[in-house]
Amino acid sequence: MKIIRARDYDHMSRQAANIISAQVILKPDSVLGLATGSSPIGTYRQLIAWYLKGDIDFAQVRTVNLDEYVGLAPENEQSYACFMRRNFFNFVNIYPANSYIPYGLNKNAEDECSRYDRIIQSLGGIDLQLLGLGPNGHIGFNEPDEFFTKGTHKVSLSEATTQANKRFFEKEEDVPRFAYTMGICDIMQAQRVVMVVSGAAKAPVVKQAFFGPVTPRCPASILQLHKDFTLVADEAALAFPD
Ligand code: F6R
Repeated sequence: MKIIRARDYDHMSRQAANIISAQVILKPDSVLGLATGSSPIGTYRQLIAWYLKGDIDFAQVRTVNLDEYVGLAPENEQSYACFMRRNFFNFVNIYPANSYIPYGLNKNAEDECSRYDRIIQSLGGIDLQLLGLGPNGHIGFNEPDEFFTKGTHKVSLSEATTQANKRFFEKEEDVPRFAYTMGICDIMQAQRVVMVVSGAAKAPVVKQAFFGPVTPRCPASILQLHKDFTLVADEAALAFPD
C-alpha cells in the first residue's frame, strides 16, 4: 500500500489524475473502473482540462462504473449514469459504446449482476480502479457485513449510506434503498487501485480502514492486501484523532 499525502482537495485531485493519465498514456486502451461521489469530481475535472489541452486521449479507453441505484433509469438526473455524463463523459472522448454502468432498471438482479460481471470479464478485467471511501468504510456499495462479497450483486443500502446520499435528492423518501454494485472480488482483481479521500470527516474511517485490522466490518480494509493500492489523501483526511 502506498500513501500519497496531498495538501488539499485540488492537490489530491491532480495527483490522482496524474496516475490515471500515466495509465492511459502507457496503455491507451486501458479499462478504467470509475466511481461517482464528491471525491473523484476534481480528478475528472483535471482529466478534462488535460484532454482539452490535447495532453491525453481517451479514444480507446473502456470504462466500467462501480455501481448504480436500482430503479433509476440512466436518464434520471440522480442516476450514476447521469452523474458520469455530467462530470466527465460529456467533456472527453470516451465513447458511449465503450462505457458501462449497471442498468438500474433491470428488475432481474441475478440477470443484471451476471451480465455486468461478464462485461468486466470480456474487457479483460480492470486495469485501474478509482475509488472513493464511504463514511462507514464502504467501497462501491459494499457495505459493512459479516463477509466479503465476490462479484456484482444487489445491495440494500445501509442507513449511514442513505443519510450520506440524501443531500443529492429532494426528499429522503426519494433516496433509493437498493443498488447494484461490483463486488469486492471485482475490485481486488483490478491491476491497480487508486483511492481518493479528502477532508477531516473521513480521517476516522481512513485510520480504521488502513491502519486497523482487515475485516468485512470495514470493507475498504481489504485493500491493505491489494498488490498495487495507492491511497491519495489530503492532510485533513490523514490527521487522525487520538
Ligand atoms: C460511488 C461509490 C461510493 C463513494 C463513497 C464516497 O460510485 O461507489 O463508494 O465512493 O460513498 O462518496 P463521496 O466521495 O461522495 O464521499
